Amino acid sequence: MDISALRVLAPLCWRAPSAHNTQPWRLDHRDEEVHVGWDPADALPAADPTGRDLRLSLGAFVETCLIVAADLGLPIEYVPDHCAQDRRVGWLRLSRPGYRSPFTAAQVQGRRTHRGRFSAGPDAGTLAALDAVAGQAGGEVRVVSDADLLTRLLTTADRHLYADPAVVAELRTWLRLTPRHPRYRADGLTGRCLELSPGEAAGLRAALAAYPVLRPLGLPRLLATAAGHPLALGGTVIVLVGPTGMDDAAQVEFGRVLMRTWLTLHAAGLAAHPLSQLIDASATRAALGATLDVAPERLLHVARVGRPVGPTARSARRVGGTG
Ligand SMILES: Cc1cc2nc3c(=O)[nH]c(=O)nc-3n(C[C@H](O)[C@H](O)[C@H](O)COP(=O)(O)O)c2cc1C
Repeated sequence: MDISALRVLAPLCWRAPSAHNTQPWRLDHRDEEVHVGWDPADALPAADPTGRDLRLSLGAFVETCLIVAADLGLPIEYVPDHCAQDRRVGWLRLSRPGYRSPFTAAQVQGRRTHRGRFSAGPDAGTLAALDAVAGQAGGEVRVVSDADLLTRLLTTADRHLYADPAVVAELRTWLRLTPRHPRYRADGLTGRCLELSPGEAAGLRAALAAYPVLRPLGLPRLLATAAGHPLALGGTVIVLVGPTGMDDAAQVEFGRVLMRTWLTLHAAGLAAHPLSQLIDASATRAALGATLDVAPERLLHVARVGRPVGPTARSARRVGGTG
């Protein structure tokens, strides 16, 4: 067996989550090792100017590769070797006994982001398990329980997002709001994954097409309002907090942690609905940091988490189809 066996596992590895479902990772098979890098065409320079979500997504992909390979009997290890210039986060190579993980390829396959209604948030035991996962890497998982504050911050963050033409244009390139979109089954965000009815998806499509003309007339506020109130859909808002002084390589490591927290939720019958806009806008990020008494730069990811009431659509992938 050699490292090229990893190619066979690609459809499972590609189930890793990424912001806007851009699937930025690239594997380059060299003799004994696989170079894990990324394609800048799949980065989000407007929505993610610091590259935080890019690095979290790459870390989530690395962790997914390790879990899938371990479960299917391919003993590999990951060697971090971050180099922004070479667009590399590290290497995967054969190494016995291989990676150990409580998670399985079936869980990788079954997990999905869920933007619908939750009947309940995680119980104390699950929250403690999430915090323990983050704690192993020097981080923590915190709960934000001030519902009024969260509602205010989300309104501000959504308005901030839709007020920026570059962010909206970039989002538009990754939305797949009609099944006729040529990349509907490859990548990006479908209306079904966003829990939009066909009518809502068509409305959003029309509004975004009219954005340049309607922006001065208040469209950003309208779009922010139309984004709805995810907090009214139940669940608990949690924040993944990293240690102080994280560099880019540490953020990739926390992508691995993020993946483990999502699989911990999935194993407990729960799911995550990320709300990254809360930490993308500097004002809401600062306010969230202040309420948690944590330096804003330590906030890595925010999500509403809970027990889904119903099923949700499966997101597309470039490798392995939509399943
Ligand atoms: C770092 C990161 C940030 C994300 N931020 C958001 C977000 O702000 N809002 C959202 O609805 N989904 C967000 N997502 C979820 C992705 O859109 C989702 O993972 C992707 O569409 C693939 O779908 P899946 O998770 O169901 O496989 C984020 C995912 C990652 C990894």
